[in-house]
Amino acid sequence: MSHHIVEVRNLRYAYPDGTEALSDVSFRIHHGESVALVGANGAGKSTLLLHLNGCLVPSAGEVRIGDFPLTPGTLSEVRRTVGMVFQDPDDQLFMPTVHDDVAFGPLNLGLPVDEVEARVFSALDTVGCGGLDKRPPYKLSGGEKRSVAIATVLAMSPSILVLDEPSSNLDPRARRQFINLLKEFKHTKIIASHDLDLVLDLCERTIVLQQGRVRADGPTREIFADDQLLEECHLERPLSMQPRVWGD
Ligand SMILES: Nc1ncnc2c1ncn2[C@@H]1O[C@H](COP(=O)(O)OP(=O)(O)OP(=O)(O)O)[C@@H](O)[C@H]1O
Ligand SMILES: [Mg+2]
Repeated sequence: MSHHIVEVRNLRYAYPDGTEALSDVSFRIHHGESVALVGANGAGKSTLLLHLNGCLVPSAGEVRIGDFPLTPGTLSEVRRTVGMVFQDPDDQLFMPTVHDDVAFGPLNLGLPVDEVEARVFSALDTVGCGGLDKRPPYKLSGGEKRSVAIATVLAMSPSILVLDEPSSNLDPRARRQFINLLKEFKHTKIIASHDLDLVLDLCERTIVLQQGRVRADGPTREIFADDQLLEECHLERPLSMQPRVWGD
C-alpha cells in the first residue's frame, strides 16, 4: 500500500443500541506522523480507533488506508498494515501461552517457523517480557498483559501503529522504556491517551475529540496551551506545561 496515509472522511458511527458515538469526523494523517487522540471519557476515541482496522464499520462516511477505502476486499491487507493495541489487553490475548499469543499473527502471515520464533523473542525482549513466554496470559499482572499485548502487535512489523491507552497499567520504568521504544518507531503512530505528558513527548500533532466530534486538530503544544479548550474538553495541561509553584 502506497504512502500509508490514514484518512477518515465524514465518519459517523452509532452503536447497535442507538448510542451516537461519532458524528462527522474527518482528518488525514500522513506517513510518519505521530498523532495523539485525546478527549474526555466517552468522547469517542476507542470507537474511532476501532474503525482504523475494520473492527467497526462506519454507519456513514469512509476510512481510507494507503489511498484505498477500507472495504471487505481490502480488510486483510489493511490488518497487515495497521497494528492495533486495544484498550483492554484481554481483547488481545486469547491463547494458552504468551508465546502463542505473540506467534499468532506472524504464523497467520505464513512466515517460516524460524522467522516466527525470532519475531516472538525479539518482540517480547523489546517490551521487557523475555521471561514470560511460557506463562498463561490470564495469569499476568495488568502491566505485564499490556506489555505482551504491545509485543503481539510489534511482532507483526506494522507500518501504522494504533494504540489505545498504551501506558495505562505500566509502572514508571516500563512506561519510560515504552515511550523510548515508540520514539524509535519511525512509521505512523496514532495514540489515544489520557497520559498527556506521553502525548507531549511523542506526538507533534493532537486531535481533540469532544462528544464524538473533532473539536480541535493542530500542533500539540498549541492545543495544550489553550486553557479554555482544555477545560471544555475535560483535559488538563501536562505536568511539564503547568506553572511551577515555588515555596510550600
Ligand atoms: N458497545 C457499546 N455499545 C453502546 N455504546 C457504546 C459501546 N461502546 C462505547 N459506547 C459509547 O460510545 C461513546 C464513545 O465511547 P468510547 O469508548 O469510544 O470513548 P473513549 O473516548 O474511548 O472513552 P475512554 O476515555 O473512557 O476510553 C460513549 O458514549 C460510550 O458510552
Ligand atoms: Mg477508550
